[in-house]
Formats: sequence, C-alpha cells, structure tokens
Amino acid sequence: MRTISSVLGSLARVVSTSLMLLFAVTTLHAQDVKEGEKIFKSKCTSCHAIDRKVVGPALKGIPETKDEAWLIKWIKNSQALIASGDAEAVKIFEENNKLVMTSFTDLSDDQIKSVLAYITDASKEKPKDAVAAGAAKDDNASVFMILGLIAVVVLAVVVIVVLNRVIRTLENVIAKNQEAIAAQEEPEDSQRFVKFAKAFVKNKKLVGFTVLMLVALLAVGGWKTMWNVGVHEGYKPVQPIKFSHQIHAGVNKIECQYCHGGAFKSKNASIPSANVCMNCHNTITASEHYDGEISPEIAKIYRALDWDPETRTYGNNPKPIQWVRIHNLPDFAYFNHSQHVVVAGVECQTCHGPIQNMEEVYQYSPLTMKWCVDCHKKTDIKSDNKYYEDLIKAHERIKKGEKMTAAMIGGLECGKCHY
Ligand code: HEC
Ligand code: HEC
Ligand code: HEC
Ligand code: HEC
Ligand code: HEC
Ligand code: HEC
Repeated sequence: MRTISSVLGSLARVVSTSLMLLFAVTTLHAQDVKEGEKIFKSKCTSCHAIDRKVVGPALKGIPETKDEAWLIKWIKNSQALIASGDAEAVKIFEENNKLVMTSFTDLSDDQIKSVLAYITDASKEKPKDAVAAGAAKDDNASVFMILGLIAVVVLAVVVIVVLNRVIRTLENVIAKNQEAIAAQEEPEDSQRFVKFAKAFVKNKKLVGFTVLMLVALLAVGGWKTMWNVGVHEGYKPVQPIKFSHQIHAGVNKIECQYCHGGAFKSKNASIPSANVCMNCHNTITASEHYDGEISPEIAKIYRALDWDPETRTYGNNPKPIQWVRIHNLPDFAYFNHSQHVVVAGVECQTCHGPIQNMEEVYQYSPLTMKWCVDCHKKTDIKSDNKYYEDLIKAHERIKKGEKMTAAMIGGLECGKCHY
C-alpha cells in the first residue's frame, strides 16, 4: 500500500510540476509576444509590415527561414553586417535598392527575440481587425439613427392625421356658421377667401389654437438651437496639407500609436511633427499619379522642414505646419486620453468614428457633457489592471488600519498635478 501511494504521490508531483512549467512557458511566450509587439509597433512599422512591403520587405515567416543569431546581428546593425561582406546581407541590401535600415544597437538580444516571436505570431494569426470592429460599431450607430428617424416620421404622420381631423371639424363648424350668415348666391373665390378669413378671425378658439401651435413650434426650434450652441459635430476644417487618414491608417494600416503615441501615455493625443512624416516621406515622394515627380502636397512637408529633396539636406529655416485643431473641449473640462484608451480600453473609433476611412478628419461625436455622462453611465470599467489592483490593496490596508500616504494612491505621478 505504502509503495502504491508513494508512486501515486510522485506521479502527481511530476504531473503538477510539468503543468506548472508548461504554464510558465506559455505565459512567458505570451509576454514575449506582447513586448515584441510593442517594440515592433514603435520602432519597425515605419518601414515594415508583416504581410506587405512598406519601405523594407514584408517580414512574414522571416524568423522561421533565417538563423536567429544572424537576424539579431542584422537588426542591431545591418550596415555593419553588410560591410563585413556577409553574402546573405549584401544580397538583401541589393534586392532592396540599397535602402539603409536604421540600426538598433540599443535593443538587447532578448528584446530582439521578443520582436521575432511577435513576427512569428503575427505571421500565423489573422490580425483581428480593430478597424472592422470600429466600422461595425459605426453601423450600429447608424441603425439607431435610422430607427430614430423612422420613429420621428411615424410620430409626425400621426400628429398630422390628428390635426387634420381637428381642422376638418373646425371647418365644418365654420361652414355651418357661414351658411347661416351667407347670402344665397355663390360667392366668387376671392370673396370666399375674405369670408373665410373673417370667420377665422371671429372664431376665438381657432385663433387661439393656431397661435399656440406657432409658439410651440418656435419654442421647440429655439430649444434645439440653444442646445447646439458650441456643439461642432461634423466640423471639418480645411487642413494646410491634404493629409488622408484613409491612405495612412486605412490602406497602409499605420497604427494610430505611430503618430498619436501621446493618446496611450498622457492626457493629450498629440499631432505628429513633420519629422515623423519624414521617416517615410524622405523616400516616398508621391503616389504613382505623379509619375516620378514630387507630389505638391508632400513638397509642403519638405518646405515646412526646409528640406531640399535634390541635395537631401536640411536648411535652417523650418516653419511648423499649421494644422487646424478639430476637437476642442473648453479649458474647464478635463479629459485624459490614456485613461480612456489604456485603462478603460476604449477604441479610438468609439469616440472619433471611422477615422481610417476619412479622407479629411471631421468631428464625429458631439463632445457635449451629456455625451460624456451617457457613456459613463453605460460603460463597464475594466478592473483587471494595476490601478484597480492598487485600489483594492489600498482598501485592504485601510481596513487593517495600516499607514496610507498620498504617495501610495498615486500622489507622485506627474500627471496628477501637471496637465
Ligand atoms: C528606416 C526604415 C527601417 C526601419 C525603421 C526598420 N527596417 Fe528592417 N529593413 C529596412 C530595409 C530597407 C530592409 C531591406 C534591406 C536593406 O535595404 O537594407 C530591411 C530588412 C530587414 C530584415 C531582413 C529581411 C529579409 O528579407 O531577410 C529584417 C529581419 C528586418 N528588416 C527587421 C526589422 C526590425 C525587427 C525592425 C525594428 C526593430 C526594422 N527592421 C526596422 C528598413 C527598415
Ligand atoms: C501617419 C500619421 C498618422 C496616423 C497613422 C494617424 N494620424 Fe490622426 N492625425 C495625423 C495628423 C497629421 C493630423 C492633423 C491633420 C488632420 O486633422 O487631418 C491628425 C489628426 C487626427 C485627429 C483630429 C485631431 C484634431 O485636430 O482634433 C484625430 C481624432 C485623429 N487624427 C485620430 C487618429 C486615429 C484614431 C488614428 C488611427 C486609426 C490616426 N489618427 C492615425 C496623423 C496621423
Ligand atoms: C509610416 C510611413 C508614413 C508616414 C509616417 C507618413 N506617411 Fe504619408 N504616405 C505614406 C504612404 C505609404 C503613402 C501612399 C503613397 C502612394 O499612394 O503610393 C503616403 C501618402 C501621403 C500623401 C499623398 C501623396 C500624394 O499622392 O499626393 C500625403 C500628402 C502624405 N502622405 C502626407 C503625410 C504627412 C503630412 C505625414 C506626417 C504627418 C505623413 N504623410 C506620414 C506613408 C507614410
Ligand atoms: C472616450 C473618448 C475618446 C477616445 C477613446 C479617444 N479620444 Fe481622442 N479626443 C477625445 C476628446 C474629448 C478630445 C478633445 C480633447 C480636448 O479638447 O482636450 C480628443 C482629441 C483628440 C486629438 C486632438 C489633439 C488632442 O490631444 O486634443 C487627437 C489627435 C485624438 N483625440 C486622437 C485619438 C486617438 C489616436 C485615439 C485612440 C488611441 C483617441 N483619440 C481616443 C475623445 C476620445
Ligand atoms: C466611450 C465611453 C466614454 C466616453 C465617451 C467618455 N468616457 Fe470618460 N471614462 C470612460 C470609462 C470606461 C472610464 C473609466 C476608466 C477607468 O477605469 O479608470 C472613464 C473615466 C473618466 C474619468 C475618470 C473618473 C475617475 O473617477 O477616475 C474622467 C475624468 C473622464 N472619464 C472624463 C470624460 C470626459 C470629460 C468625457 C467627455 C469629453 C468622457 N470622459 C467621455 C468612458 C467614456
Ligand atoms: C504633488 C504634485 C506634483 C507632482 C506629483 C509632480 N509635480 Fe512637478 N510641480 C508641482 C508644482 C506645484 C510645481 C510648481 C512649483 C513652483 O512653481 O515652484 C511643479 C513644478 C515642476 C517643474 C518646474 C517647472 C518650472 O517652471 O520650474 C517641473 C519640470 C516638474 N514639476 C516636473 C514634474 C515631473 C517630471 C513630475 C513626475 C516625476 C512631477 N513634476 C510631479 C507639483 C507636482
């Protein structure tokens, strides 16, 4: 008996440790992929995509076909590898018109392995389409709009029918009155109208009713106009450069984060500087419509930076691009992007609409207080993050009567005191 139970015991131990190991390995792998994705999106997407050529070649399947040590060397410093005469490196360099890839000597081997893990992972899975999700939400919104409109139309028809009834009865009353007063002969049209007008003015109830309706109409109109003062839904100013989100975020699938990184880290989403544009547009000078000429819109970026595309040098007279601000809350309202995007996990499209389909950006949401409050009433928080973990810890400490300082509830974070 002893032997059987000890065998069973050790078997159980072996199984549980191997399960734990497997679990550790898979979570580790998941972490790698996540970290790799972060690095890839911040450092590589300017030139690479997984499944199509951008500036550099598509990276789908590359980690499986090439040696890891070679890839690490290449990513750290491809130019050094090429200079060392490595045949493979020279071949890739020549196949890509001798475009120079940035070197990433600051990335550690582990970080690069994470990036490769991400590339392998992304090569497998069909990327789940945040863009489509956003569009679907948008469809929902328009379904609501249409239903709302139908309801309004039905209501209007009912009101018209009822009013018609009322008017017909009133007309009957008038007609009877007129018959009593009127002469026997048939009046002419104009006379008839005058008579009708006279009878109308005499009928106090009808006049009262009409005045009431007019006042009600004006009041509704006025009320609506008042509520829309300062609401700029649909606002679409002309921008100094015809920058299309449809081309960049839609067709070329450049992540929002690449240009609006601030939205994930801080209160403000921030507009990218012209230098960010140059990561690509120092080589992409136009779409194919221009037949090798520089696009006049992209030339505006060069002018803003005082960059000469002939000599590829910068002058010393740069002027910032004067983008026209579209979304703007009044100063007394505090809105923080990272709290909504990172902590609450709200998609950009929920508030900004189908940006990836917009040739020109317009204000999609009303940005009224009602809009903020309505969403707060119906949206669940995501409590599986550090903020709520800390909050729960804080509650436990308070319950136990332990010391709690302002610092422990985030009072040292820059963003709490600084806008
Ligand atoms: C400035 C643009 C640029 C950036 C940024 C960039 N690359 Fe590249 N990459 C290239 C180009 C161009 C090539 C093609 C080889 C050449 O011309 O040097 C290339 C080639 C490669 C290759 C070899 C592809 C093959 O066919 O074997 C790998 C792997 C690679 N890049 C990975 C990365 C990773 C990972 C990052 C981010 C850490 C990155 N690159 C960032 C431009 C870039
Ligand atoms: C290649 C860079 C780039 C990418 C990628 C990009 N944007 Fe923009 N975005 C800009 C620039 C430049 C402007 C200012 C010009 C304009 O309004 O069109 C801007 C403006 C905006 C505005 C309006 C800002 C205002 O003035 O109120 C919103 C909202 C916005 N972007 C959201 C997004 C979202 C969401 C994504 C991802 C789906 C995205 N952007 C991807 C560069 C980019
Ligand atoms: C990650 C790379 C990347 C970045 C960053 C980027 N673009 Fe582009 N841009 C592209 C690509 C790719 C195209 C499409 C070219 C084509 O159609 O062949 C393009 C097209 C354009 C065009 C249209 C060109 C034409 O046909 O007239 C304009 C204008 C433009 N970009 C402006 C900007 C501005 C302004 C910024 C900075 C806020 C910017 N781009 C940042 C990749 C980028
Ligand atoms: C919960 C709604 C909401 C979400 C989600 C959201 N935004 Fe905004 N966004 C706003 C509001 C409100 C403003 C106006 C802020 C102001 O005036 O202070 C704004 C302004 C902007 C601006 C103009 C510059 C600025 O910082 O004021 C840009 C660019 C922008 N958002 C991009 C994004 C991107 C990119 C995402 C996704 C990563 C995103 N937004 C997600 C509501 C949102
Ligand atoms: C798409 C839905 C949505 C919209 C629209 C929205 N919010 Fe929020 N907001 C949230 C969610 C979800 C949270 C909770 C985030 C968290 O867990 O910390 C939140 C949290 C906040 C907080 C922090 C509350 C606290 O006690 O910490 C502030 C402040 C805030 N929102 C301001 C605004 C303002 C101002 C607007 C309108 C301009 C707005 N929000 C629009 C969803 C939204
Ligand atoms: C508890 C609130 C609080 C926190 C947290 C905080 N600050 Fe400050 N900070 C202030 C105040 C108040 C001032 C203005 C002091 C003055 O005018 O003498 C200030 C001033 C500054 C200044 C100097 C500005 C100037 O004009 O000299 C800088 C820079 C600064 N803070 C950066 C930071 C950074 C970075 C962090 C996060 C690591 C941070 N602060 C966290 C409250 C805070």
